[in-house]
Amino acid sequence: MRVLVTGGAGYIGSVVTEELLRDGHDVVVYDSLYKGHRRAVVAGATFVHADLANTETLRATLVARQIDAVVHMAADSLVGESCEQPAKYYQNNFVNGLILLEAMRETKVERIVFSSTAATYGQPDKQPIEETAANLPTNPYGQSKLAFEQAMRWYNEAYGLRFASLRYFNAAGASEACGEDHAPETHLIPIALQVAAGTREFVEVFGDDYPTPDGTCVRDYIHVIDLARAHILALKKIENVNDAGSIYNLGCGGAGYSVNQVLATAREVTGKDIPARVGPRRAGDPAVLIASSEKIKRERGWKPKFQDVRVIVESAWRWMQAHPRGYSE
Ligand SMILES: NC(=O)c1ccc[n+]([C@@H]2O[C@H](COP(=O)([O-])OP(=O)(O)OC[C@H]3O[C@@H](n4cnc5c(N)ncnc54)[C@H](O)[C@@H]3O)[C@@H](O)[C@H]2O)c1
Repeated sequence: MRVLVTGGAGYIGSVVTEELLRDGHDVVVYDSLYKGHRRAVVAGATFVHADLANTETLRATLVARQIDAVVHMAADSLVGESCEQPAKYYQNNFVNGLILLEAMRETKVERIVFSSTAATYGQPDKQPIEETAANLPTNPYGQSKLAFEQAMRWYNEAYGLRFASLRYFNAAGASEACGEDHAPETHLIPIALQVAAGTREFVEVFGDDYPTPDGTCVRDYIHVIDLARAHILALKKIENVNDAGSIYNLGCGGAGYSVNQVLATAREVTGKDIPARVGPRRAGDPAVLIASSEKIKRERGWKPKFQDVRVIVESAWRWMQAHPRGYSE
């Protein structure tokens, strides 16, 4: 297939591109580089440096490259920022998403895999979270992603768009060539490794009085290669013309990992001290957030290969040591 990966110069998009190329697909990376990195565009992919809002370029790319399917990863994805600037999230994650759906409709591209988020569920009591849980997002980030999912559903009804949406929490780890280089970095594993590497002073732990075994929050971490493989499985599913649309959660299985467990693992892997300071809880942080992967395992045979958090942290540390300044010169 000829696949357009929006956001393919970003963290997850670069690994999705690697895996698509490995499977023999042609890939066009479409990215404004507003957050991503030119060096993260994998060799072998065609790069179009443009914003989703640029309707003409988007439409022209879909036609000129004879795109069969889209993997849509371009987005803003900082929960805290979304609460401060909701319009930014509606604009990029929903309005720009609609521009993509319209361009696809006009150029007859009928398949899309969407990188959604488990933030669509909000804070359900029952963990791990299944796809049947109610959608009650507690921030504009989750809400804007849910709005785009709903738009895909109505495009399916109206025009036969075939879609799959993947909902997950924390992508983590690295491939050999592609890793995590966000600014600002808000994710626990790269932050802990930055402390180990000496580029950050300490890790702030947001509360240690939660009702969890060690008092710190428990979360889900999925290796970015396992995530990329799930995107490709979802793409294969919608090759079937009778497939309407589906939503799959992705989680790490088991009971998740507490902040303290992740920090202990990072200390073991790096052999460094990694000082941590306990601060107050963050508003809106639930004690436990874990997604269930049973549906995608059952229906699509997804088999994560790198579930152990130690393996995840090791891969991230290898990448950070090989790229001490991330993707910068
Ligand atoms: N990282 C995670 O843990 C996580 C968890 C759940 C869901 N997701 C979702 O996965 C996707 C990728 O996340 P990531 O961590 O790789 O993010 P990222 O910021 O590293 O990558 C996003 C890429 O999209 C590009 N982009 C953003 N808006 C654009 C636009 N309007 N036009 C063109 N390009 C644009 C950016 O330049 C960047 O390269 C996002 O949609 C995010 O919401 C990520």
